[in-house]
Amino acid sequence: MTTHYAIRKFNFVSLISNLVTVLQGLVFCFFSISSFAQVSDDAIAQVDQNGQWLSYGRTHNETRFAPFEDINDSNVQELGVDWFIDLPNDVGLVSTPLVIDEVLYFVGTMNIVRAVNAVSGEILWTYNPRVAEEIAGKKKVGWVHNRGLSFYGDKIYGATWDGRLFALNYKTGEEAWITRTFPIDSALYITGTPKAFKGKVIIGNGGTENGPTRGFITAYDAETGEEAWKFYIVPGNPADGFENAAMEMAAETWTGDWWTNGGGGNVWHGFTYDVEMDALYIGTGNGAPWNASIRSPEGGDNLFLCSVLALDPDTGEYLWHYQTTPGETWDYNSNMDIVLTDLEIEGEEVKALLHAPKNGFFYVLNRENGELISAEKYAEANWASHIDMTTGRPVEIPGARFDNNTVKITPGPLGAHSWHPMSYNPNTGLVYIPTIHWGVEFSDEAYDEGFTANDFEWNLAVDWVGDLDYEISGSLQAWDPVEQRQVWEVDYDHMYNAGTLTTAGNLVFQGTAEGNLMAYDASNGQALWEKDLGLGISAPPISYKIDGKQYLSILVGWGGGGAAGLDRDGSTLGWEYGKHTRRLITFSLGGDNEIPEQPAPSFPEPLVDTGFQIDSDLATLGELAFANNFCGGCHGTAAVPAGMAPDLRASPILLDQQAFYSIVRDGALVSRAMPAHPDISDADLESIRHYIRQQAINAQRQ
Ligand code: HEC
Repeated sequence: MTTHYAIRKFNFVSLISNLVTVLQGLVFCFFSISSFAQVSDDAIAQVDQNGQWLSYGRTHNETRFAPFEDINDSNVQELGVDWFIDLPNDVGLVSTPLVIDEVLYFVGTMNIVRAVNAVSGEILWTYNPRVAEEIAGKKKVGWVHNRGLSFYGDKIYGATWDGRLFALNYKTGEEAWITRTFPIDSALYITGTPKAFKGKVIIGNGGTENGPTRGFITAYDAETGEEAWKFYIVPGNPADGFENAAMEMAAETWTGDWWTNGGGGNVWHGFTYDVEMDALYIGTGNGAPWNASIRSPEGGDNLFLCSVLALDPDTGEYLWHYQTTPGETWDYNSNMDIVLTDLEIEGEEVKALLHAPKNGFFYVLNRENGELISAEKYAEANWASHIDMTTGRPVEIPGARFDNNTVKITPGPLGAHSWHPMSYNPNTGLVYIPTIHWGVEFSDEAYDEGFTANDFEWNLAVDWVGDLDYEISGSLQAWDPVEQRQVWEVDYDHMYNAGTLTTAGNLVFQGTAEGNLMAYDASNGQALWEKDLGLGISAPPISYKIDGKQYLSILVGWGGGGAAGLDRDGSTLGWEYGKHTRRLITFSLGGDNEIPEQPAPSFPEPLVDTGFQIDSDLATLGELAFANNFCGGCHGTAAVPAGMAPDLRASPILLDQQAFYSIVRDGALVSRAMPAHPDISDADLESIRHYIRQQAINAQRQ
């Protein structure tokens, strides 16, 4: 009886356990169908990721390392176009796509999000946050492009130029929620990737030099969009009380009435979540205004400018910081990407944080406590001789601070490395850094302590010009973070080359300003493959694997500072607005699709002999109006464009007052990313017209 019972009991248990197995199977089955669209922190932290590309820098460690060997150093020559899509209405493309559950998501010009079948390229849905209409007349500063999206849980997160943060249903692209992160009429903007992790999504903003700005980062509940916490980067007016103890500590490093000019520190890029330490690292911005002797007249380090700042991800509380450029005065922000790995240094395993900010030094920090492990120059940097390892501070060259002086400084304000992401390959142990080589001349002779920052002006309190003696160039370098030395370098003629991807196939991929997608041997820098894509590349490539096949995808659409014409280099490439088709291109081994050839680089001819009578007084006023209305942000400094918008010197629209007004004031081309300016005065419109016509004649004379 007992035995019998035991057998029956056994059978019963076995039945239950069988049922459980069946149920588990069902659950497993359910999850394997839908799990891709339930992106968790664990999933993002994994190196394998089931062949996908789940977040901006692929894993939470932001290494941009794809662990696939199918495409490798011995067969990369067989790489060909698998599929591509034309994006005829896009202009600047700088973003990193994501791939989840065989769908590729990317953000294009004016923050338009698209979901695309990652195997065929078929467009599944499009979300348009209608940015040009939103900013009309209210926001004169910003950029047409954005660096990326986040996927977390079952939602996609993005942010808009005008300061909105949105969550989308991943299947349909419908808005789950949308929230404003700062007032529309403030002199701030967003170009950054919201970082979603641990049930939150965080976003900062740019605009340090466009007003009396005080940088901050805000965390929102990923499900609801409710604000969870906010952390200011620099202290406000002590009379108003400090938000937290960290602000009180920071205030001791500022002097004078710093808060009247904002202080700056805006965080527009460089967010990394450390799963092991449960810490959020953010790279912080430069000072507002740039000139430290005006910003903080009695000196001081000006915390937390130009720092790696560690915060508690749940509460936003301060954990630790390391400041790369104390009392910065050259626009040397530390907003560049922050990469995490473990390194063996002098026989010890170190939880390392790698950072190559604008100032030209490569930093290895201990992410357990923020201590400096090592720092060496990765590019020409004449402002400091070295980093003192006992104090952790740079040793500045006397005279590098341009107090009432003119001084040649390298790197220039775009830095030796900007937002174009670096990548880290654990197999080679090397970091691949898109490097910029240039210098500028700073002079603050025209500025005094009476300076005040105003919204929508360039509040630098220092003048700078590209140092014309200095040969501008770019390079890709492989950097050994343990030995702090360069292992190999490839030179480029132009400075604005794109971010990198490295793979387990011993490869490094990078797009160049000249329009080539390059593959290098990751260990020695030998060029193994190149493909001319006919248009400057500004976005980093990604790689993913579906059904055992490895793909490589890249957005081709000249964008960023080079395309905005911030300096002369971008305007020399010939990426004339409207000539070259923007594309998303995906490669695979043996891919045999042909992309239509792009037109050769070209430079529009300025219109002359038009009969337009230039009033030179109006033209002089127009120079200021053109700058103050930030027309140059897209149409190029001094109306010399570099691809982000048409060359107005060649435009017949300038000859027709009505047409000009209807485009610039009424927004006739809003749908094509030319913002409306409903509040612009007739006087400004007319003077801008005369200024541009004069620039056309001047260009002809050269
Ligand atoms: C956000 C970027 C941006 C800003 C800022 C901007 N523009 Fe534009 N603009 C564009 C783009 C892009 C086009 C081309 C639209 C198209 O494809 O038709 C354009 C077109 C134009 C045109 C028509 C040119 C032609 O030949 O079709 C004029 C005129 C113009 N802009 C003037 C201005 C002026 C003046 C300002 C400052 C008040 C300004 N824009 C600010 C992006 C911008």
